[in-house]
Amino acid sequence: MAGDDYLARLNPEQREAVETLDGPVLILAGAGTGKTRVLTTRFAHLLKTGRAWPGQVLAVTFTNKAAREMRERVSAILGQPAEGLWLGTFHSLCARMLRRHAELVGLTSAFTILDTDDQMRLLKQVMDAAGVDLKRWPAQGLMAQIQRWKDRGLTAERVTPAEDTDYAGGRARPLYAAYQSRLRDLNCCDFGDLMLHMTEVFRGHPAVLADWNRRLRYILVDEYQDTNLVQYYWLRLLAQSHRNICCVGDDDQSIYSWRGAEIENILRFEKDFPNAKVVRLESNYRSTKPILAAAAHLIAHNNGRLGKTLRAGRKDAEGDKVRVVSLWDSEEEARMVGERIEAARRAGHKLAEIAILVRAGFQTRAFEERLIVLGLPYR
Ligand SMILES: Nc1ncnc2c1ncn2[C@@H]1O[C@H](COP(=O)(O)OP(=O)(O)OP(=O)(O)O)[C@@H](O)[C@H]1O
Ligand SMILES: [Mg+2]
Repeated sequence: MAGDDYLARLNPEQREAVETLDGPVLILAGAGTGKTRVLTTRFAHLLKTGRAWPGQVLAVTFTNKAAREMRERVSAILGQPAEGLWLGTFHSLCARMLRRHAELVGLTSAFTILDTDDQMRLLKQVMDAAGVDLKRWPAQGLMAQIQRWKDRGLTAERVTPAEDTDYAGGRARPLYAAYQSRLRDLNCCDFGDLMLHMTEVFRGHPAVLADWNRRLRYILVDEYQDTNLVQYYWLRLLAQSHRNICCVGDDDQSIYSWRGAEIENILRFEKDFPNAKVVRLESNYRSTKPILAAAAHLIAHNNGRLGKTLRAGRKDAEGDKVRVVSLWDSEEEARMVGERIEAARRAGHKLAEIAILVRAGFQTRAFEERLIVLGLPYR
């Protein structure tokens, strides 16, 4: 895209979120309101206006796929491939940083990142060597505890008695310490260590942190509602000097509480970054009015919301009403859905326009069986 066209593709709120470049910005927005579009445009805008070189922006996405998409979209706006970017997931960015500072946590830059199987194997060895009865105290339980501690930024030394557990007669903490020292001996770290080690490096080495603060002048964070505490500390440390941090999140969309995400991070942002500019994006470009109304009605019951309303942003937003149907069991449900699909097909709709959403993977089975019986191809 040529020139400044990229700004013209934004609505006024989105534009404000993109053009407020200095100081902390919290973009609170619902599903499909253009959060990712705004963050990507902001990234490109920082480069286009000469505010920052590509290597001076840190952009965090939640998946590697999202990082690739952001890279492509930034490149498209720039009109050339964007290179040398600090763009990726929390873990990939931390792994990259840790390679440069590995010796500060007792590793060398060639350290290995263990997968979950190797992690478990190592922990079992450590427990075995300490004489823990693995039948009585399964290693999975301790691994989960260690991950929780790591998600909250707690090294074994930082775990206070109040944070401790009864696991293996109160031995979780020393076992955690032994596991860490074993990892160090092998020049390895696990996934959770990437974040933890880097926050420890920043906390213990002000000169290193100051260097990163100078280097990374602008910080962008997508899916901020899904960050956990250690990720939050890491961001806060990186942003503390210049405060040019822009987080995009939806307090109604947190899906990762099971892996330590802290919705409070959103609620905390305004406190930790006083005078943060808060921009709300409330025009949804993905769904029709009846769908938005039904969703708003449901999430109004959630606790811990900052509150926002979604309006339809599309020009063709009228659409059919949402229907709620109660059925006896999954087979009856699959039969009903199958009939609806056949009816839609007779009415001239393409199968590729029809989707079935379920809450968990196992629930697709009844539908698949029914679709096979009806001879309806699906993916
Ligand atoms: N100002 C706009 N005008 C027209 N379409 C837009 C506008 N902003 C966003 N869209 C479109 O709306 C859709 C959703 O955008 P985007 O993925 O950026 O939203 P999001 O808020 O990040 O969604 P999610 O909640 O899934 O993360 C995309 O198809 C995007 O192109
Ligand atoms: Mg998004």
